[in-house]
Amino acid sequence: MFEYMGWGKRNRIRQIVAADDRCLMLAIDHGYFMGPTHGMEIPAKAIQPLLPHIDSLMLSPGILTSSVDEKLRGIGWVLRASGGNSVLEPDIDNEGLILSAKQAVRLNASAIAVSIYAGAEHQHQTFLNLAKAIEDAAEYDLPVLGVTAVGKKLKDKKEKRYLALASRIAAEYGADIVKTYYCDGFEEVVAKCPAPIVVAGGPRLDTYKDVLELTYRAIQEGAIGVDMGRNVWQSEYPAAILQGVRAIIHGNATVKEAMELVESLSTEETRRKELFEVTQEDIAVSSIH
Ligand code: 5RP
Repeated sequence: MFEYMGWGKRNRIRQIVAADDRCLMLAIDHGYFMGPTHGMEIPAKAIQPLLPHIDSLMLSPGILTSSVDEKLRGIGWVLRASGGNSVLEPDIDNEGLILSAKQAVRLNASAIAVSIYAGAEHQHQTFLNLAKAIEDAAEYDLPVLGVTAVGKKLKDKKEKRYLALASRIAAEYGADIVKTYYCDGFEEVVAKCPAPIVVAGGPRLDTYKDVLELTYRAIQEGAIGVDMGRNVWQSEYPAAILQGVRAIIHGNATVKEAMELVESLSTEETRRKELFEVTQEDIAVSSIH
């Protein structure tokens, strides 16, 4: 799949895309603009039990150094390299670069992630962020994940035409993998994007079946995997739903088979304990993109 890349880049990308050309990335970078997000309030505690089930983590540099054991092996990490804004602003697209490729390599990153906000007020600046990050990362053969973000004003634009445009632009700039949302007609988004696509989970869905169906359809329609966050962290049984998602991605399970697995793994022992009071405002903030 990545034969055209140099050895260093291929080796790094293989820390996040497994030998079956599929990828289970767990996103815990939400705090870079949302602060201590529901379900991810204490990252070290949240991450630890899930490590055996994933290929890679997507996270910000400060969460890597504070909350991930440096002895960890066998898991890749994708570092958030764009940022500079927060949910306290009217929108979140006014981003710059917050991490250089050199810093990322020093942290042994497998890749860096940069968001673009097509159609938003700061679209131009975010496209140039991606271009700059790709140029910088090329120095080190470091892969770049282009993230088609939507922000507050564009959050209803998770549809085929928009996502195909944003994904294609990220690939045209040279993103090695594109992260976007699933939508009706997703196959067309995949077909029109020359780079492999991973799918974001988005805000928490109502049921586990919804999460598994999203994963299943995304894979059937051409995604190489998911980069999922809130549907794992905010679920009642994070390790169980994650293993269900994994069974679809790496085990070719059907939704029914994955659902049975999730149910069998949802026990008192694996239940997530709510550590803090969760208000309606917390829920609303964590659903803004
Ligand atoms: C924000 C991101 C997040 O990593 C991503 O949205 C997290 O995944 P999920 O949507 O499944 O919570 O890239 O732009």
